[in-house]
Amino acid sequence: MDDSSGHRWIDDAVAALADRGFYFGRKVFGTLDIPDILARIRALDESGAFTDAGVGRSGRHQINHLVRGDRVRWIDEKPTDPVEVRLMDLMAGARRTLNQELFAGLVDFEGHFAIYPPGGFYHRHVDSFRDDDSRVITFILYLNQDWKSDDGGQLRVYHHDGSIVDIDPESGSVVMFKSRDFPHEVLTARGERRSFTGWFRVRRAPHQ
Ligand code: OGA
Ligand code: MN
Repeated sequence: MDDSSGHRWIDDAVAALADRGFYFGRKVFGTLDIPDILARIRALDESGAFTDAGVGRSGRHQINHLVRGDRVRWIDEKPTDPVEVRLMDLMAGARRTLNQELFAGLVDFEGHFAIYPPGGFYHRHVDSFRDDDSRVITFILYLNQDWKSDDGGQLRVYHHDGSIVDIDPESGSVVMFKSRDFPHEVLTARGERRSFTGWFRVRRAPHQ
């Protein structure tokens, strides 16, 4: 998680979030972690643990393949698998830093692994629900080794000033943004696209 200078990506993220509500760190996540996470995802997928992703929360939750084509596997709040424990520990540390430096009161983090099969996409949306705005900061870690721009699957972000930015889902890259403020979409992926995605929240709400 640290680069060779000992500089932490979370410190850059805090500064960028405070400044413009958005952070992109290209390949900032320690390369050592990625193969372990990919192995975990593969094992979970082979055991059938992934399910088609839904749209909306609680009563409104529904599967809609016209909106998104990924499948997800939520991570337990207190996982036992070592890879998941490490990820959730890292997110707990990030949450403490965010609370100290930026926002009071991020009480938890909910996260899932996501797989977009070839042809998968997620139409333009905002990461908070009409009936539940507990999601404050979105976190995405990409897990796609040797991803090329031709492979598609870019995260397209609509910024306040009207600019549109496409981000390749390259292994080790991290994106964070204020969940309510940035409409975004996932362009059609041509290869299998994997990520770990989650939300720092201000109060507890059951996820689907
Ligand atoms: C999401 C989402 C973006 C991405 O899961 O809500 O927008 O790049 N993911 O995976
Ligand atoms: Mn989203």
